[in-house]
Amino acid sequence: MNDQVARLIELRKLEERTRLHPLSKIISVASGKGGTGKSFFALNLTYQLSRLGKNVLLVDLDCNFPNIHLFLNHATENTIADFFTQRKVLREIIYRYSENMSIIFGDSGSTDYPKLTRDSIDYFFIQLNKIAPQYDYIILDSSAGADEFTIRQLSKSDYNIVIATPEPTSVMDAYVLLKFIFENTEVTKNYVVFNKSESKDDSDSAFQNLSTALRHFLKSEVSLLGVIGYDRIVYKSIMEQVILMKSYPNSKSALEINELAIRLLKITQVANNNQSLRLTRF
Ligand SMILES: Nc1ncnc2c1ncn2[C@@H]1O[C@H](COP(=O)(O)OP(=O)(O)O)[C@@H](O)[C@H]1O
Ligand SMILES: [Mg+2]
Repeated sequence: MNDQVARLIELRKLEERTRLHPLSKIISVASGKGGTGKSFFALNLTYQLSRLGKNVLLVDLDCNFPNIHLFLNHATENTIADFFTQRKVLREIIYRYSENMSIIFGDSGSTDYPKLTRDSIDYFFIQLNKIAPQYDYIILDSSAGADEFTIRQLSKSDYNIVIATPEPTSVMDAYVLLKFIFENTEVTKNYVVFNKSESKDDSDSAFQNLSTALRHFLKSEVSLLGVIGYDRIVYKSIMEQVILMKSYPNSKSALEINELAIRLLKITQVANNNQSLRLTRF
């Protein structure tokens, strides 16, 4: 057998293994309570990853208070409710925002919204995994809290990013959510982002307190993905219904989100390279 044929067979095997063990790309953005900046962060992270050349799908899975369409002043035609009521498949409800960025919007105010259960999210993930190969990353904006649907969602994600503010109440909420995650899921790649931080001291001591509590009570660790400072320009971008990273790319918070996006790229690439290496060694 010549080298080229051998190489082709090797490649085929690798493709098959990758199909059976897909790369880690599903990232949930979660928080203990609402208002910490999940939707703002999920949208801006998605946009920035797409600017960095990745093909990204954002899904508004906050079925109680979906917001992504409002952030963009977008009149939704198809929403995730069409999927959960089995009127449409995922492919039909994807909105192409730009070449590298797609969005599945949420639905608010719908009267026939079904009660979402563990089974609903399992069904969602089965369908999501079918379209996943088209994307480099899939970002899931979540409901606040730890209801059955959300915990199941977090357990099925490859990465969870918990967003908190440095206030003690929010740190406590993040701790409780992480406790739920550790106790109910096998996801090991959990990160924290402190948002609306007024100073480096605030976010440093918030992370220190969270880490100490996790270590002491749960014998667990969490990594800090990064910090986004409190910035009035965020409020302005939301009032104007524009994407901060797009309209104010040089603002302090935009630069911080860019750093976060790059860090996340590195983390996921290292994880996926290690996975590919493990697979090729077989
Ligand atoms: N870094 C920030 N600086 C200032 N205000 C922020 C920042 N991040 C978020 N906000 C404010 O917090 C509000 C809630 O954000 P949102 O993303 O809707 O939270 P969640 O999705 O967690 O409920 C936004 O309307 C915005 O005004
Ligand atoms: Mg939200």
